[in-house]
Amino acid sequence: MRSLFFLASLGLVAAENGLDGWLRYASLPCSHECQSKLPASIVVLNATKTSPIYVAGSEIQDGLKSIYGSHAQISKSQCKTSSSVVVGTVEQYRKACGSLSEIPELAEDGFWLSIDGRKIRILGSTERGALYGAFEYLSMLAQGNFSTVSYATSPSAPIRWVNQWDNMDGRIERGYGGPSIFFNNGAIVDDLTRVKQYARLLASIRINAVVVNNVNANATLLTPDNLKGLGRIADVFRPYGIQVGISLNFASPEDLGGLDTFDPLDPSVISWWSNITEQVYQHVPDMAGYLVKADSEGQPGPQTYNRTLSEGANLFAKAVQPYGGIVMFRAFVYNKLNESNWTADRANAAVDFFKDLDGEFDENVVVQIKYGPIDFQVREPASPLFANLFNTSTAIELQVTQEYLGQQSHLVYLPPLWKTILDFDLRVDGKSSLVRDVYTGKRFNRKLGGSAAVVNVGTNTTWLGSHLAMSNLYAYGRLAWNPADDATTMLQDWIRLTFGLDQTVLSTITKMSMESWPAYEGYSGNLGIQTLTDILYTHYGPNPASQDNNGWGQWTRADHNGIGMDRTVSNGTGFSGQYPDELATIYENIDSTPDDLLLWFHHVNYTYQLHSGKTVIQHFYDAHYTGAATAQTFRTQWASLEGKIDDGRYNHVLRRLDYQSGHSIIWRDAINNFYHNLSGIPDTAKRVNHHPWRIEAESMKLDGYKPYTVSPFETASGPVAIVTASNTTVGTATTKINFASGTYDLAVNYYDIFGGQSQWQVYLNDKQVGEWVGNSEDVYSHTPSIYLDGHSAIRIKFRGVKVKKGDTLKIVGRPDGVEPAPLDYVSFLPEGVVD
Ligand SMILES: *[C@@H]1O[C@H](CO)[C@@H](O)[C@H](O)[C@H]1NC(C)=O
Ligand SMILES: *[C@@H]1O[C@H](CO)[C@@H](O)[C@H](O)[C@H]1NC(C)=O
Ligand SMILES: *[C@@H]1O[C@H](CO)[C@@H](O)[C@H](O)[C@H]1NC(C)=O
Ligand SMILES: *[C@@H]1O[C@H](CO)[C@@H](O)[C@H](O)[C@H]1NC(C)=O
Ligand SMILES: *[C@@H]1O[C@H](CO)[C@@H](O)[C@H](O)[C@H]1NC(C)=O
Ligand SMILES: *[C@@H]1O[C@H](CO)[C@@H](O)[C@H](O)[C@H]1NC(C)=O
Ligand SMILES: *[C@@H]1O[C@H](CO)[C@@H](O)[C@H](O)[C@H]1NC(C)=O
Ligand SMILES: *[C@@H]1O[C@H](CO)[C@@H](O)[C@H](O)[C@H]1NC(C)=O
Ligand SMILES: *[C@@H]1O[C@H](CO)[C@@H](O)[C@H](O)[C@H]1NC(C)=O
Ligand SMILES: *[C@@H]1O[C@H](CO)[C@@H](O)[C@H](O)[C@H]1NC(C)=O
Ligand SMILES: *[C@@H]1O[C@H](CO)[C@@H](O)[C@H](O)[C@H]1NC(C)=O
Ligand SMILES: *[C@@H]1O[C@H](CO)[C@@H](O)[C@H](O)[C@H]1NC(C)=O
Repeated sequence: MRSLFFLASLGLVAAENGLDGWLRYASLPCSHECQSKLPASIVVLNATKTSPIYVAGSEIQDGLKSIYGSHAQISKSQCKTSSSVVVGTVEQYRKACGSLSEIPELAEDGFWLSIDGRKIRILGSTERGALYGAFEYLSMLAQGNFSTVSYATSPSAPIRWVNQWDNMDGRIERGYGGPSIFFNNGAIVDDLTRVKQYARLLASIRINAVVVNNVNANATLLTPDNLKGLGRIADVFRPYGIQVGISLNFASPEDLGGLDTFDPLDPSVISWWSNITEQVYQHVPDMAGYLVKADSEGQPGPQTYNRTLSEGANLFAKAVQPYGGIVMFRAFVYNKLNESNWTADRANAAVDFFKDLDGEFDENVVVQIKYGPIDFQVREPASPLFANLFNTSTAIELQVTQEYLGQQSHLVYLPPLWKTILDFDLRVDGKSSLVRDVYTGKRFNRKLGGSAAVVNVGTNTTWLGSHLAMSNLYAYGRLAWNPADDATTMLQDWIRLTFGLDQTVLSTITKMSMESWPAYEGYSGNLGIQTLTDILYTHYGPNPASQDNNGWGQWTRADHNGIGMDRTVSNGTGFSGQYPDELATIYENIDSTPDDLLLWFHHVNYTYQLHSGKTVIQHFYDAHYTGAATAQTFRTQWASLEGKIDDGRYNHVLRRLDYQSGHSIIWRDAINNFYHNLSGIPDTAKRVNHHPWRIEAESMKLDGYKPYTVSPFETASGPVAIVTASNTTVGTATTKINFASGTYDLAVNYYDIFGGQSQWQVYLNDKQVGEWVGNSEDVYSHTPSIYLDGHSAIRIKFRGVKVKKGDTLKIVGRPDGVEPAPLDYVSFLPEGVVD
């Protein structure tokens, strides 16, 4: 008894680091049924070690061993045995094993999976298709699913790409999982072990190409040494059926080639690119294609020479065409604008720039369109460009990396957000025109099309910086294959593969994840006003004022009367007119505009009454309270899984959810304070600016500490914090506690800035009740800040502290480096009180 128990718990305590993601092949018990269904051998119809078929075979072998401790021999022949997995292409099967009538028509990369007892056949239309089928079989095995099945599945679209925003120096733009697995110091890294592990994860979710370098591209990727390195990367990806693509810098002929122009119509430029392209294909014969960000956010492009964007795209299209490559040309093109012009609108840019070019792009160009007209915000309407290109292939650009959505330090499961776009009907010509039918090529009969997602994995063993964020990568692959897939179904497969088959684990993580995007929208930006983060700095914490009074065009036009962008045709920017008539009419009219996009399309007074019956301002207040309250429950929900998940991942996630519960309150208070201050309209529920359980640090007796006025003001309670008088002075803040005697959770709000690791201790009557270090820059994934602001604001909680009325609270702060042990306030929270 004892030893069994010991063994069972041993399985759980073995800490996991996340490296295998959803491909852990965790051990499962094998029932009689299971025993009777495990194949004895694996027949690979291509035994070349670099073939995806061989990879499929060894992956199945590893999986069977690891999940069920069963050994299956890999062989090349005997495809008729009734106790084996046969994996190969349909063609290879016909040659080696004879004809098969039952396989339905497969599109490129599609596969047929047939499981009948121990007889398993996995046949792809291509080798990579067969590998996808093998991972499907493994996913079933790892979920204890021994169903008899026979079905075929094909991808919705040929383009299923991920984009890495990795710089050559090894840093990643908007990367939250450590430095690059590809680059370091201007070159390709020597050890590509992590690249191979990434390839395996990507292949299992049917991704077929990866663009390895940042869209803000550095021409030095094209030097001979780096092209050689790119060849090594491609060699690692190839056995997994994944092709490599690269981002180009439009000005490379000048920057790298030494020409005095990069005019796309100049013959010397054309031949320079064709020469470079030939060299690229020498090293990477199956290079997928080029990704180009041109004339955008300071990147050079064809407009420098008064050439059109299509002339720019076609330059590359012609260079890669002989090799079968394609060009992904980003539609993220816009100019800076002046907000004092009521009709100026960055949201108009994509259609303004691209609509008239429809039909002008070469056949191997795909216009890559962000899901919304601005930039990966917490809610946007579908980009109207999808309804304006009929003779141009398109792809949707999603972002797995949570740039504006909590940077992996907040749990935000993204598919419910993505589905608001993918499933959206644009009603082109009054006909069903789902966004997913447009970019997959169905609606307008395009052969090319598909999806790209910014992924930005790094060297951290969690890949993205957080274990739970991996559900977004997994689901992205599933949606790239089948955009009609269900958000909960995908999530639950991921949970079982990642955390095991326990029902409580499944239902708990499902609940948390499905609640996470609505909660984040609740405490960040509501009613279509965008994320309200700091768009001029880290894109992380709250800073609503940063949206306005600059040329970037992510405006809210908030003043003391009202808020929102007037995007009507009748009196605003005309954006609503970029949609087909049926939709344009809905959005033009304030009464038919859905509440969740009201402020995207209309400028209204704060007292404007929504369909829900609430005023805009009260909706803001309520949504921020509700969203933050939901975020408090994530930690508690997760904590209920203690013992059911290995300690390593359990503690890692617990810490992040604890952090999120605090940061959601910082978001809530900052946004509510900001609009309360701007509008002067009180919260009818009397919560905003009313915090009965708080003691402001600046109101305490200070010794070595001094008050500090935080900017933006709304990111400090009070709105003042305290900092040590110098970076060598130890500060002490003391106060008497006037709350009734009892047990409280003690929450301390402080700031943790980049450039120092201050230390704090909390005492009650000189007895220490807690201490912590300001090292969050080393613990969490988000971009740190060097200021006291909404990014660095953070809360720590000490639970179950016994307090007597009249006790003395003392906090001692030791500064370190540039970090002056900042403190904002403390709260004594009775059980159940969020404050
Ligand atoms: C076997 O795989 C290798 C490597 O991928 C490939 O070059 C070859 O064409 C494949 N053989 C067949 C018969 O498909
Ligand atoms: C088992 O897998 C098949 C194929 O993916 C699926 O259709 C079926 O619903 C799964 N069964 C269970 C119980 O999950
Ligand atoms: C491009 O890479 C080179 C070599 O690593 C580096 O010196 C240069 O600063 C980079 N350029 C940009 C714009 O990052
Ligand atoms: C192509 O580029 C290589 C290396 O930069 C150079 O040596 C060669 O002359 C170029 N060929 C042509 C035809 O321009
Ligand atoms: C582009 O056109 C503008 C306006 O027509 C002109 O002023 C400018 O000189 C042109 N630039 C080039 C590089 O031809
Ligand atoms: C924006 O336009 C206003 C009014 O025309 C002008 O006063 C202001 O200088 C402009 N701002 C910028 C940054 O160009
Ligand atoms: C205001 O913006 C609109 C739309 O971009 C533009 O057509 C118009 O010329 C601008 N007005 C001024 C005065 O700049
Ligand atoms: C698409 O292009 C074809 C020929 O290039 C043209 O006949 C047709 O009108 C175009 N369709 C649209 C919707 O622009
Ligand atoms: C992963 O990142 C976290 C913080 O983001 C850090 O604490 C941890 O050391 C990293 N681990 C690895 C293996 O890079
Ligand atoms: C129309 O636009 C102006 C700004 O040009 C704005 O002040 C006014 O409130 C708008 N009117 C309506 C009815 O929205
Ligand atoms: C919006 O508020 C302003 C200022 O209080 C007021 O003049 C205006 O009439 C209000 N507009 C509406 C539509 O209520
Ligand atoms: C304290 O601050 C000064 C001035 O900013 C700086 O020069 C010094 O290095 C800091 N001291 C420490 C220990 O970081």
